[in-house]
Amino acid sequence: MKTKLFLSLALGATMMAGCCGTGAADTSMTVTAEDSAAVAEKAVVETILQRRSIRKYKQQPVERERLEKIIECGVYAPNGMGRQSWEVRVVDDPRLLAEIDSTYNAFAGGDTDGSFRKAAFGAPVLIFVAYDTRYDLSQVDCGLLGGNIMVSARSMGIGTCCLGGICRFFNAPEGSALLKRLDFPETHKLLYAIALGYPDESPAPKPRMMEKVKFIE
Ligand SMILES: Cc1cc2nc3c(=O)[nH]c(=O)nc-3n(C[C@H](O)[C@H](O)[C@H](O)COP(=O)(O)O)c2cc1C
Repeated sequence: MKTKLFLSLALGATMMAGCCGTGAADTSMTVTAEDSAAVAEKAVVETILQRRSIRKYKQQPVERERLEKIIECGVYAPNGMGRQSWEVRVVDDPRLLAEIDSTYNAFAGGDTDGSFRKAAFGAPVLIFVAYDTRYDLSQVDCGLLGGNIMVSARSMGIGTCCLGGICRFFNAPEGSALLKRLDFPETHKLLYAIALGYPDESPAPKPRMMEKVKFIE
């Protein structure tokens, strides 16, 4: 497999050298499979380490094609017994998002103190994730799905923020009409949401408590 990739990359480099009129193939341009793997590893690790929760978004819609790819990355997460026990709803309709905001604003007390509290920091996309109440590990499935969504979005320059608080609103009587619109089956309960959109801030990564991790020998 590696040899095959090396050969096709080397062939590509040879053809490029040929088309540019340099004559003989320049072997210094060949890229090995090991080089490609190292570049991919660096990109994945950097994407994970640099992801941050984004709480300020540009009012720029996210292209449907990119959104679908991000969701695809989500559902390719590992999941218990291959059940894919989550249910996912994607909202990018500005009218529905505005309705969620105004209902949430009243719930969160924005009307009383004169502020306007948005449910998801004005993100142009909200992804809702519900777990299967009949499966004890469904919440793990849902968490892994979200991790993939947030990391793949970051790799495309798209920001996200995991939102737990918003679900208290959706699961309260004030949010019940909106929850119904999400059309989750009776067997599922809303667990969390993800705000998603092009970031309008770039916070530095937050430090982590590495001492919570122990290698047991
Ligand atoms: C289960 C869960 C619920 C969260 N709920 C909220 C929330 O309601 N509002 C919010 O602003 N951030 C929320 N966050 C984001 C966390 O505050 C954030 O991930 C954490 O502070 C680490 O920062 P980082 O994501 O920038 O690395 C939530 C994250 C998780 C995993």
